[in-house]
Amino acid sequence: MDDGCDIAIVGAGAAGLAAAIFSAEAGAERIVLLDGAATIGAKILISGGGRCNVTHDAVRPDDFNGSPPVVRNILAAFDEQATSRWFAGLGVPLKREDTGKLFPVSDSARTVLDALLHRCAALGVAVRPHHRVHDIVPTGSGASFSVAHQHGVLGAERVIMATGGCSLPRTGSDGSGWDFVRRLGHTVTPTFPALVPLVLQSGFHAALSGLSQPVELSTYADGALIDRRAGSLLWTHFGISGPVVMDASRHWVIAQASGQRVEMRCNFLPAHSFAQVEELLIEATAVRPRASVQTLIAEQLPDRLATALVRDAGIDPAGRAAQLSRAQRRAVVHTLTAFVLPVVRARGWNFAEVTAGGVPLAEVDYRTMASRKHPGLYLVGEILDCDGRIGGFNFQWAWSTGYLAGRAAARAVASSRQRALTA
Ligand code: FDA
Repeated sequence: MDDGCDIAIVGAGAAGLAAAIFSAEAGAERIVLLDGAATIGAKILISGGGRCNVTHDAVRPDDFNGSPPVVRNILAAFDEQATSRWFAGLGVPLKREDTGKLFPVSDSARTVLDALLHRCAALGVAVRPHHRVHDIVPTGSGASFSVAHQHGVLGAERVIMATGGCSLPRTGSDGSGWDFVRRLGHTVTPTFPALVPLVLQSGFHAALSGLSQPVELSTYADGALIDRRAGSLLWTHFGISGPVVMDASRHWVIAQASGQRVEMRCNFLPAHSFAQVEELLIEATAVRPRASVQTLIAEQLPDRLATALVRDAGIDPAGRAAQLSRAQRRAVVHTLTAFVLPVVRARGWNFAEVTAGGVPLAEVDYRTMASRKHPGLYLVGEILDCDGRIGGFNFQWAWSTGYLAGRAAARAVASSRQRALTA
């Protein structure tokens, strides 16, 4: 067995790095951060298109799928302002973009990762890449563990689980952490890829690749509306992506996996109802009676999309709008405002940014991230059943939970030392 440590942190992603720094800053000394990957921080480096969207300028519980009161308390302990101050203190000032997303002023995810790693080094945290953990076994009756990894066994007084979920498994996050915590008494809700692009039946979108536009997406399961949101949709060679699709994807994926009849409808003229769009079309036709359907629709939408949609409605794009029958006009309007996207599947774990599902938040103490199932164990980040929308919310979750667990584990180590001294 290796020399023991006070706190073993399993997983050196965003949450694990934050937990390590905050536990060391709170006075813990023998901290070991183990990660199975050969190099630390792959996910941070590719995040935000290589720029790392560190947080958002306004983070609220309803930006997350997870128990709102619990999420609120966790975020309140270390919020987005605290994150900004923390990163500025680490030498990585953040800047706000129009969307509210906060990025490093450097526009480089590398500066984020380097700052976290330098801080770990300065605080004496032992960072051990290439140390894949195989199991975590309690020793004795107290809060101590044997952490079995690929080079041996590490004794630890406290363990912080920061192994992430299953998204982008090639970065090392393959869901193995859930097996360990199950053996320690936790449950894990079914897990699904989230913030994931959607694949469409081939055909319709072939000519649209590269186009991006504002839309409103509504997802229905067995006829009931389960999600509605507006934002930017990006057409791609395989189907659809972009923030609104990524945010809606979890609802489509979960409903589909549970055997429901799921349908995603797209309004290409967000904030316009069927009746308003019909009125617009009637007015435009009256003003330009000789214009083609395509020409009139292209006043509102990109040319290529206008053509594809009008064709999909079974109308000749070159035909005159004035010659449309009422039924044809309504078919066009229906296509514009409630187009059923032919989604066949999500792109899967290799393209998902996060995981929906995980260890229920009810199984941790939201003040400390301590397990309610096993003494001495803490859970942080994506391993938990909480996923945020796109925009920096998932990293905020990692920083906030890492902060709480790191400090709490340090306090717990200090008080057990104190008890041992006075015993
Ligand atoms: P994370 O998955 O980052 O880390 C877990 C670590 O545990 C990994 O390093 C893994 O190797 C290690 N591990 C797992 N099992 C192990 C074992 N058995 N033994 C040892 N080590 C083990 N979010 C955001 O807010 N802004 C953004 O810009 C982006 N961008 C983005 C882009 C892409 C492409 C992806 C895939 C994701 C994002 N995200 C994001 C989401 C964000 O990256 C994610 O929410 C956090 O990285 C989660 O942090 P964790 O530390 O919880 O897990």
